[in-house]
Amino acid sequence: MSELSASVLSADLSDLAAECRRTRDCGVKMIHFDVMDGHFVPNISYGAPVLKCLKKAVPDMVYDVHLMISEPARYAPDFAKAGADYITFHYEAVPDAVDKTIAAIRETGCKVGLSINPGTDPQVIFPWLDKLDLVLVMGVNPGFGGQSFMPATPERIAAVKAECVRRGLSPRIEVDGGVNAQTGALCADAGADLLVMGSAFYGAKDPAALAETVRGL
Ligand code: DX5
Ligand code: ZN
Repeated sequence: MSELSASVLSADLSDLAAECRRTRDCGVKMIHFDVMDGHFVPNISYGAPVLKCLKKAVPDMVYDVHLMISEPARYAPDFAKAGADYITFHYEAVPDAVDKTIAAIRETGCKVGLSINPGTDPQVIFPWLDKLDLVLVMGVNPGFGGQSFMPATPERIAAVKAECVRRGLSPRIEVDGGVNAQTGALCADAGADLLVMGSAFYGAKDPAALAETVRGL
């Protein structure tokens, strides 16, 4: 049983509220909101004011905020106030301030996620597994939608899952980047229970059927 988190980076950004309602009508409960600062990643997307409007327009969704930014602790309160439910930051952005950043997000009342890029050994985040609600394993280098899934991703998910099982921990394990029905099945088999889909979902002829497929994985 997996859940889909729809990455609106690939939606029609001129009509975001309608896109989120359409997403909800496909049986999807979670919106993945990608924040890029043009510094941690070579692209700029949108920030807390956009989330605030979206939350107001479509309040009955879970907002899964993925911060691909250099100073996550500094901006986390803005996203919490704007309506975030989960706030995920990157290990690579603040390798020496992971504890501080977890505490800053926790302080906002949001659920805390920690993400690793494809080039980062999953073991580096093991010391914090007991403090997390979510672990996000990237299937591509962050920054852009529509990239190809890196084949090593399922074994990286499996490594995180095995360590969680070994220690009796159960953070959600999310995968993001290049995920479609096929690659998503491999990730679900490896232990992911939350699949982010951007281009696969918003480009699908029948997104409701895709959401149904994901629920069955
Ligand atoms: C990539 C973002 C993803 C992106 C996924 O940096 O974090 O959430 O929108 O897009 P797809 O599913 O098209 O790879
Ligand atoms: Zn993302």
